[in-house]
Amino acid sequence: MTKQMLEWLIPLGAAGAVVAAGLPYHTDITTYTMHSSKISHPVRIALLADFHNDRSDKGIKKLTDQILAQKPDLILMPGDMAEEHNHQERTFQFLKQLEGIPMYYSTGNHEEFRWDLTPLKQRFREHGVVVLDEKSEVIRIHETELEIAGISCRMEMSDFTTEEVNALFHTDHYRILLSHKPNWVELYRTIDCDLTVCGHAHGGQWHIPFLGTPVAAPSQGFFPKYTQGIHDLGRGNMLISRGLVRHYHGIPRLYNNPEIVILDLVPQD
Ligand SMILES: [Fe+2]
Repeated sequence: MTKQMLEWLIPLGAAGAVVAAGLPYHTDITTYTMHSSKISHPVRIALLADFHNDRSDKGIKKLTDQILAQKPDLILMPGDMAEEHNHQERTFQFLKQLEGIPMYYSTGNHEEFRWDLTPLKQRFREHGVVVLDEKSEVIRIHETELEIAGISCRMEMSDFTTEEVNALFHTDHYRILLSHKPNWVELYRTIDCDLTVCGHAHGGQWHIPFLGTPVAAPSQGFFPKYTQGIHDLGRGNMLISRGLVRHYHGIPRLYNNPEIVILDLVPQD
């Protein structure tokens, strides 16, 4: 091997090692606790977003074992659970493993514009999922009542007004809104809702090693602000899942593992 070849191979090998070290080998579980005077008894929520049909049979078993071990009272799914038509049955295989736990879903951009959206929603319902397309439901868990609403992932934030979203809620119970896009944050700031849950940004797809800075997200561009975690919106909070997908259309996540979000809603101290 010549010196010139080595000068190319060493940096290429180092770059390959950096990429390989950051591939999504695991799914993280991130746990948060939120206090509210509207919560009388603790409720454990699993927030699952952006599944994108991206798991093998074995992967689905591993993922659902991780979720079930957390013993959630409730599952919220704010969109992109069924990627177009590729391997769609994986999504229903995944949902089947979670049957028995109350599940609520609103559409993501990958579902909203499908020609077969109506039968797709029906298939979600057949697995016990409540499809929240511009409506709400009240659920009682351990004496705590929650009102959960969802809005569909349309093209623009301006497709919804504050009044339209507020009108989805009919009670003063703890209010949760499912909405796919965290970049609609300016709408969420104006609504009368305790918690908005989102996905869509996939955590920023790649994180800069050691810094953890998200690189890019749709509609937010480079170094996006709203890709994960809890954000205080004044009247309420926004909670964003980094999502479950590992490889988005063949592009792997880097230094940004898929994520199961667990949220414990507990009474005010
Ligand atoms: Fe997505």
